[in-house]
Amino acid sequence: MLLDQKIAVITGGASGQGLASARAFLREGARVVILDWNAETGAAALRELSELGPVRFLHCDLGVEEQVVSACADILAHEGVPDVLFNNAGIGYSETGRYPMVSIFDTTLENWNNILRINLTGAFLMTRELGRAMAARGTGGSIIFNASIAGIVGQPNIDAYTASKGALVALTRALANTLGAQKIRVNAICPGAIDTPMLAPALKNSGVVERLEQTPLKRIGQPEDIAGLALYLGSDLSAFVTGQIIACDGGRSAI
Ligand SMILES: NC(=O)c1ccc[n+]([C@@H]2O[C@H](COP(=O)([O-])OP(=O)(O)OC[C@H]3O[C@@H](n4cnc5c(N)ncnc54)[C@H](O)[C@@H]3O)[C@@H](O)[C@H]2O)c1
Repeated sequence: MLLDQKIAVITGGASGQGLASARAFLREGARVVILDWNAETGAAALRELSELGPVRFLHCDLGVEEQVVSACADILAHEGVPDVLFNNAGIGYSETGRYPMVSIFDTTLENWNNILRINLTGAFLMTRELGRAMAARGTGGSIIFNASIAGIVGQPNIDAYTASKGALVALTRALANTLGAQKIRVNAICPGAIDTPMLAPALKNSGVVERLEQTPLKRIGQPEDIAGLALYLGSDLSAFVTGQIIACDGGRSAI
């Protein structure tokens, strides 16, 4: 098994790509901790995942420093030092309009700060808190960021989201250099359109479906497509891969 005896932490593990990755990691022998701010979907995910292997759910808002610090201390006390940290959680399009994806002229400072606080600062806090222990252990590990093709190719009217994902791309390259001496590999996944609850509002009205027809593979991605790449990056299959920004987008970024 690819992750036998390994400890893996997945943020946003209650839904979509994080949930699919939790399934894949458990099937490959990992002990998994999922973090999510949605208590309801977190509990449902825990019930499902428990059938596959050892898993724990921690209720945590990644945008709140005290909650991240406390959750990470809990993980270090209960599971120990992680081998894999998948910084997957993020906010994008939302049905509720709580975090609107709009052009720069319609972006309030509050909206900008919220998107950056969760998509970027949340990943920074998790990486600081768990990466410190991974580095101190000295035996290495894998840190994965879930960015977006929005972080590598321009897309109209999702400017705050794009800025947050572009920052994760830059952070990936920086941290690969910072942490290489401790044998910690750092890579980023850049998904294209993936069929998850996050994308549901956009699928209804933004032309995403029409644009998929122009991509090489002509289909929407499934959460399992991302889970496969996360499994590769989290395991020794990618032992010599670090600092890489890998699109998983059906060829969208190759056009
Ligand atoms: N779906 C896509 O088309 C797409 C494309 C590119 C990148 N992404 C990225 O993929 C990642 C996973 O998204 P998904 O598509 O699986 O969406 P999703 O909405 O199904 O899952 C995201 C999960 O993150 C959790 N989350 C959000 N903010 C949080 C916070 N502050 N604290 C804790 N948990 C939080 C949500 O509750 C949810 O369970 C995100 O970072 C997203 O930006 C998605």
